[in-house]
Amino acid sequence: MKEKFYVTTPIYYPNDVPHIGHAYTTIVADVLARWNKLRGKEVFFLTGTDEHGKKIETVAKSKEKKPKQFVDELVPKFKEAWSKLNLEYDSFIRTTDKNHEKIVREVLQKVYDKGDIYKSVYEGNYCTGCEAYYTEKDLVDGKCPIHKTKIEKLKEESYFFKLSKYQKDLLKLYKDNSEFISPKKRNKEIINRVKEGLKDLSISRTSFDWGIKIPFDEEHIVYVWFDALLNYYSATREKGKEKFWPADVHIIGKDILWFHAVYWPAMLLSVGIELPKKIFAHGWWTFNNEKISKSRGKVINIDELISIAGVDSARYFLLRATPFGDDGDFSEQALIDRHNNELADKLGNLVSRVSALIEKYGTEKCENKLIKKLNEKKIEKLFENYEFDKVLNEIFAFIDVCNEYVQNKKPWETKDKKVLSELKESILKIAYLLEPFIPLSAEKIKKQFSVTKINKGKILFEKIK
Ligand code: MSP
Repeated sequence: MKEKFYVTTPIYYPNDVPHIGHAYTTIVADVLARWNKLRGKEVFFLTGTDEHGKKIETVAKSKEKKPKQFVDELVPKFKEAWSKLNLEYDSFIRTTDKNHEKIVREVLQKVYDKGDIYKSVYEGNYCTGCEAYYTEKDLVDGKCPIHKTKIEKLKEESYFFKLSKYQKDLLKLYKDNSEFISPKKRNKEIINRVKEGLKDLSISRTSFDWGIKIPFDEEHIVYVWFDALLNYYSATREKGKEKFWPADVHIIGKDILWFHAVYWPAMLLSVGIELPKKIFAHGWWTFNNEKISKSRGKVINIDELISIAGVDSARYFLLRATPFGDDGDFSEQALIDRHNNELADKLGNLVSRVSALIEKYGTEKCENKLIKKLNEKKIEKLFENYEFDKVLNEIFAFIDVCNEYVQNKKPWETKDKKVLSELKESILKIAYLLEPFIPLSAEKIKKQFSVTKINKGKILFEKIK
């Protein structure tokens, strides 16, 4: 039986078209999926949209649309964007899918039967942008700490999930399994906050109705995060998909770590469902050192991202420019520089020189001394640690070695077919290692160098002025 690998992205709010922040998480998940597939694993890569809740309802209303009609129009924009970025997800879940709604109600009923849900009154602050409850202490000048917008004062009857009951279990989970929350610095943050104490979580609303009805009280609808988090599980409650649970990794942004590291495992502990193995929270991108924000016009949508230097270069930049887990700054110039200096001058140059030489002189198989300079084990290890920038550094260091080899061995003078054979094999190995990151270009290289008669093909990466 094949080893399985299940990776997820957050499900995005379809309240607007996707931007570079959404693209980043989804590209990383795609790289993980492709990498594991290439290593023989049976992969399930899930993405989708988070369609219920006040936020969606409000935006839809402002456009004079019914929420379902509104999201139905936006979902194709996400799918188009992911296809433009060459993302090969296996399933796209929508929280309005019937199967998902059914699972949410079933799980909720189980939590209720277990005695982990009670009715009370919620009184406090709510940010619709975050779809989250805030204590007075969390607020900044009385406003949402993330959106800096006015907070909604809520007082309504609500069902509560006994989150506080799971404080000890959660702390034990983080302690016994130090890899559960990654990177390490985030682990500490969560542990400290959980140690301060957990309040029970309001999991139902009555003041609007765009959501899933609570099975034991149809006047209430399910809190959008309780609904949304369950997507990771409900997507595997379909024929042939059951084996994929538990998820190997949930890739998310640091802003939604609390929901994933605290609410999510507590919900699963309550119903006795196996926990996911890892939650990896990445950092945030700024754009020319400013926060990406719609209100100030600082967004990059997918077409803009791709138009700068192509799909592969965009994917490459996002994974290379900053360590996974840290914040990063995006600028058009920085992307162009990496495209020109690394993809074109190093990789592109190697491929075009070697293919031209092979076209002229041919190859002859021999022991490959060159490829021994590539530390593949190290690269595999770095990848397993989610150090994608270092993986790419290592691969590009080997590309440098190959370019120097051409320079030193001067096969255009010696016509040494053995040297060219070493280079050919090394290039194929490079393509294999780079394929998850730059699949279109890697595919071209593989095609070019796998045939009996190798030709100098088209330029892989045109330089950008
Ligand atoms: N619907 C919730 C997730 C539910 S998962 C069960 C949600 N959606 S979102 O559309 O607002 O955001 C999704 C993701 O985009 C988050 O992981 C967030 O970190 C990421 N990003 C949004 N802006 C970003 C940047 N500027 N940079 C990097 N990632 C960013 O939250």
